[in-house]
Amino acid sequence: MNVLVTGGAGFIGSHVADKLLERGDKVSCVDNFNDYYEPEMKKRNIKQAQQNRNFTLYREDILNLKQMEDIFGKAKPEAVIHLAARVGVRPSLKEPLLYEEVNVKGTLHILELCRKHGIRKIVFASSSSVYGANKKVPFSEDDRTDRPISPYGATKKAGELLCHSYNSLYRMDISCLRFFTVYGERGRPDMAPYKFTKLISEGKEIDVSGDGRTKRDYTYVADIVQGVTAALDRELGYEIINLGNSNTVELQYLIGLIEKELGKKARIKEMPMQPGDLPVTCADITKAKRLLGFSPRTKIEAGIKNLVAWYNQQRQQQAK
Ligand SMILES: NC(=O)c1ccc[n+]([C@@H]2O[C@H](COP(=O)([O-])OP(=O)(O)OC[C@H]3O[C@@H](n4cnc5c(N)ncnc54)[C@H](O)[C@@H]3O)[C@@H](O)[C@H]2O)c1
Repeated sequence: MNVLVTGGAGFIGSHVADKLLERGDKVSCVDNFNDYYEPEMKKRNIKQAQQNRNFTLYREDILNLKQMEDIFGKAKPEAVIHLAARVGVRPSLKEPLLYEEVNVKGTLHILELCRKHGIRKIVFASSSSVYGANKKVPFSEDDRTDRPISPYGATKKAGELLCHSYNSLYRMDISCLRFFTVYGERGRPDMAPYKFTKLISEGKEIDVSGDGRTKRDYTYVADIVQGVTAALDRELGYEIINLGNSNTVELQYLIGLIEKELGKKARIKEMPMQPGDLPVTCADITKAKRLLGFSPRTKIEAGIKNLVAWYNQQRQQQAK
């Protein structure tokens, strides 16, 4: 298949691109390498993919509609995996207008381009953030999502709604996948698993809010990729599907695992809960199992081991 992946140089996008290349698909990667985190990390993420002749990189902003039109004309994708977004809950409180522009208008650009170019299959990256402060655990796709508690969560909900309108109007096949705290190799430096690995390894203090008792449904990136490719391969109409591990882990347990793998103690600075943060996330993945055959295989202990091993290897390579 010929697939266009937006945000393809990012954490999840680069893993998705690698998987598609591995199975012989063609990948057109669109990414603007913004500086939300070090663009060099994104360059490293796709270094291997760039050796593959089935991989084409388009360094572009999805907000540039004219240039994106040209890319769609050249790449002629049969399907689009739309992962490009402004990410993170806390920074969305500081720059809500930017989040709205990239995540809502940017998503509409992608939908419009798909409509114009007759592309019927779209996979859209949504987020567990749409559930807001949902008290009912685990989170089911049928739970209320009209009360997100951060601009980021609201923009992801808006993306899902736009996707629904395009499915309804133009019969496009769109899967909105709600990812739950993804971690693993090439992990995002603003998220706890990578951030804490780096800080603990460097002997620096880590900020821990809410007593370390907040709980997340950490989901290993290879499992997420399996869910994304399964959604790509199936005709589903319009569906919203949770992709999580369905197993919550306390922050302090996560820190303990990182300490164990690094062989180093964390220096913890206690912080109050941050606005927009959720006390707990946990995915009900019954629907993902039924529709996608989704079955996350990676336990947090094994996933953190892989993350830390990768981190150490990266550090050694960069020190050379
Ligand atoms: N990582 C998670 O835990 C998680 C959880 C829920 C949802 N998601 C969603 O999954 C997707 C991928 O997230 P990620 O963790 O890989 O983040 P990431 O920041 O590593 O990847 C996003 C990529 O999109 C690119 N991008 C951003 N704005 C762009 C624009 N205007 N034009 C072109 N490219 C642009 C960035 O440069 C980056 O490479 C996002 O849509 C995110 O909201 C991620």
